[in-house]
Amino acid sequence: MERQEVSRDKHAASKTQKVNPKTSLVLDTLETSEEKTTRLEILNAKQAPLTDMEVASIVEIECHPKVQKWLYDYAFSSSKKELHDYQVFFKRLPKNRKVDILVAKSDGKIIGFLALWGLGVYMKHVATIGVSVHPHYWGKGVATRLIKSAIELARQKGIERLEVETLSENNPMRHVIEKVGFELESIRERRIKKDGLNHDEAVYFLLL
Ligand SMILES: CC(C)(COP(=O)(O)OP(=O)(O)OC[C@H]1O[C@@H](n2cnc3c(N)ncnc32)[C@H](O)[C@@H]1OP(=O)(O)O)[C@@H](O)C(=O)NCCC(=O)NCCS
Repeated sequence: MERQEVSRDKHAASKTQKVNPKTSLVLDTLETSEEKTTRLEILNAKQAPLTDMEVASIVEIECHPKVQKWLYDYAFSSSKKELHDYQVFFKRLPKNRKVDILVAKSDGKIIGFLALWGLGVYMKHVATIGVSVHPHYWGKGVATRLIKSAIELARQKGIERLEVETLSENNPMRHVIEKVGFELESIRERRIKKDGLNHDEAVYFLLL
């Protein structure tokens, strides 16, 4: 299993790339002289199935108020129901051809994850990305690593076009995807109504 060192100050680190034979993903490896580092590994949950405790960590991230603020694909009835739904989802994941899940682990604990969803019949070459990182770890490059790994995985799967939809005011997300090469396709005005407020939605794409 490949691991990568994440510096508390990632700008002080230099990067190399390695291929993980288990997940077939190209992973960045940070080499740093900093003392305060945590280990980060990016794993494909289809090839490294999650324990119930790990699924609970994912629900904890999704239900965190600072994360919820930015999500709008679905509403949670309760974190208990969410946990049950996620456990069922992850048990069935190895046979689910529509989606791949990458998880980011720091010192063995899941701190972020990414879903790469395939689209419909005439869009089998298109996939969309959703990503969440636990707020304690924001700003350390975790989402950047997950998205770069997802781009590599998408290429391996023959995906030709990636898409991201996000609230237009989600500046951290917009910054990350622009940094890795996504282009803004459109701003859909007032497309999302969340918590009684209208929001514009930013749509990004990346041709592979
Ligand atoms: C968006 C999110 C996934 C980013 O995760 P992350 O691990 O913190 O991302 P990274 O550390 O890789 O990169 C964050 C970048 O945004 C920058 N950033 C942080 N706050 C910012 C802001 N208000 N405006 C612009 N850029 C900002 C950081 O400086 C960093 O850029 P840099 O690497 O060039 O310095 C995380 O904030 C999150 O989980 N948000 C809630 C869920 C969500 O919004 N998901 C996306 C829905 S489509």
